[in-house]
Amino acid sequence: MSKYSDFMREMVAAAITAPSGGNNQPWEFYVDGDALYVVNDRSRATAPTLDVGERATYAALGAAVENVVVAASGAGRSARVQWLPIADNPLVAARIDIDDSPVNAEDAALSPYIGERLTNRRPGRQQPLLAEQTAALSAAASARGGQLYLCSDKARLDEIGEILGISDAIRMFSSGLHAEMMSELRWNPRETETTRDGIDIATLEISGAQRSMIRMLRRFGVARVMGKLGAGKAFIASNRQALAASSAFAVVTIPGHSLTDYLQGGRAMERVWLTATSLGLAFQPLAALTYLLMRVRFFGGQGLPAETVQILQELLQRMDRVFPEIDREHGHVLYFRLANAEPASMRSLRRPVDAVLRAGKPPD
Ligand SMILES: Cc1cc2nc3c(=O)[nH]c(=O)nc-3n(C[C@H](O)[C@H](O)[C@H](O)COP(=O)(O)O)c2cc1C
Repeated sequence: MSKYSDFMREMVAAAITAPSGGNNQPWEFYVDGDALYVVNDRSRATAPTLDVGERATYAALGAAVENVVVAASGAGRSARVQWLPIADNPLVAARIDIDDSPVNAEDAALSPYIGERLTNRRPGRQQPLLAEQTAALSAAASARGGQLYLCSDKARLDEIGEILGISDAIRMFSSGLHAEMMSELRWNPRETETTRDGIDIATLEISGAQRSMIRMLRRFGVARVMGKLGAGKAFIASNRQALAASSAFAVVTIPGHSLTDYLQGGRAMERVWLTATSLGLAFQPLAALTYLLMRVRFFGGQGLPAETVQILQELLQRMDRVFPEIDREHGHVLYFRLANAEPASMRSLRRPVDAVLRAGKPPD
């Protein structure tokens, strides 16, 4: 007899297609009958500075939970979610019980998009969002207790582009953040196939010249010199350009900033992403700014050099001026841009189901 049903294995296969910061896939799954436990696998952590108090990790775990709920509905079954803390293991993020109560039709309608969803970093064609697209995306966030804020005003997009460019420059030219970013990149197909995680540079949708530049910047000594020579301006220019070619800049928020809020927020984020996929919209997270600003807003900039904190405080004030309507106590789960763009040129890989699926209850 197998240790778990084919159905539960399918649920885990759906869970692992979820997005995660740097494609680090920070999860393990335990299946005990009709119960599926989603567990934080700390050995997968790659970017502790950006992953502020594991908020990005819990957003990814929340996205995996949302995939299971949607996939179960698509297969005609229902899923009930219980959040942490569960049992005596603080790493257990959620328990999902699958049963045969009536399915939610809206969940079921999203299930075909679980396997299609991806990060599409291509620039867009400057087409505004339609009113019905905006309504569907906002409803997706609200269905999971989140809120979606969209910005498509040219002047505000330009301001956000500059803010993003400065935060990208901070990431490239600060030694700790630079090391975290480089550890996530996979430089050739062999490396990608071996690890089946991380970000394949082919998914960055950049030109050959830009790839060569990133290869050079791999060495922090080179990056530091380039930073001194004013290379930060190039980040500002490219972010402004990317936002000008987007349909909207967007923020998903959640009313709080605890780990449970971020699990719930991750569900909202994934539901918006699946909905964007169903609408044919390209979705690219812009998480460095999201999480650097969170570190400053809620964690006093802890772990960052004082000079960087000062710059980030200014960026935070600028961002708050762009979005005065967002409650300052609400957690920003993710910033992203939506675009009408060509399809992504390739899909990122995942570790196999058997590497992350275990039979039985998680250990205490
Ligand atoms: C919390 C979080 C943060 C992310 N940050 C970024 C980011 O800053 N820039 C980016 O291009 N992609 C970002 N991504 C997208 C991931 O890199 C992507 O989900 C992962 O590589 C898997 O690829 P896929 O989404 O195409 O399946 C983020 C995703 C999540 C869930």
